[in-house]
Amino acid sequence: MKVIITENYEEMSAKAAELIISIVKNNPNAVLGLATGSSPIGTYENMAKDHRENGTSYKSVTTVNLDEYVGLTADHDQSYAYFMRHNLFDHIDVKLSNTHLPCGSASDVAAECDRYNALLENYKQDVQVLGLGSNGHIGFNEPGTPFDSVTHLVDLTENTIKDNSRLFASIDEVPRQALSMGIKNIMNAKSILVVVSGKNKAKAVKGMVKGEITPDLPASVLQLHPFVTVICDKDAASEL
Ligand code: GLP
Repeated sequence: MKVIITENYEEMSAKAAELIISIVKNNPNAVLGLATGSSPIGTYENMAKDHRENGTSYKSVTTVNLDEYVGLTADHDQSYAYFMRHNLFDHIDVKLSNTHLPCGSASDVAAECDRYNALLENYKQDVQVLGLGSNGHIGFNEPGTPFDSVTHLVDLTENTIKDNSRLFASIDEVPRQALSMGIKNIMNAKSILVVVSGKNKAKAVKGMVKGEITPDLPASVLQLHPFVTVICDKDAASEL
């Protein structure tokens, strides 16, 4: 695991964008595994800026997202589908038809998970971007999720509901469930890029980088992947 420690969020975001842009430049047909949350927003801003100023093209790129809340349609402003359009897709030339997320409003959840797993078989991520939950979750794979899990329905923990409530009008509006790529789908990526910032993530970062490899801290599984880059600011790295 390669760990790059940056001064702050801005430097973390610039470095992460650089890495993704170089993958797209080397392979215009790249498959980008993308994440939501506040951690990658700056990365996406830098990608959009680079697209505007340097013309890096995403015309032939395919994207697959980690997760989506259950019960929110793609036009709900807290859905991850909306987040991705707002923070990235509307600002680059990716074809929306080449962007994929689990569908949180699917009536048949099991069929939706099967559909997404089959799609991931076809689109192996050249890079999978990850944020990190303060409890060590990746995607919405909460502590205790088996390492061989594939896309599945998740009951969010109280911890995650509380963490994510800052983006909703009230904690009661936070969905209690989500569909998430499983750990196996994440580990299948050819390379993984984790972006983390802030003191509240320091303990999870330590567990991810040098803790025991255990489902109790899902991100610790990344120690078993041969090509992981962690870009974290010095606050997030403070317990390393
Ligand atoms: C959510 C997402 C994760 C994300 C995590 C951290 O739970 N499902 O993919 O990594 O939050 O979010 P943030 O980057 O806002 O701290």
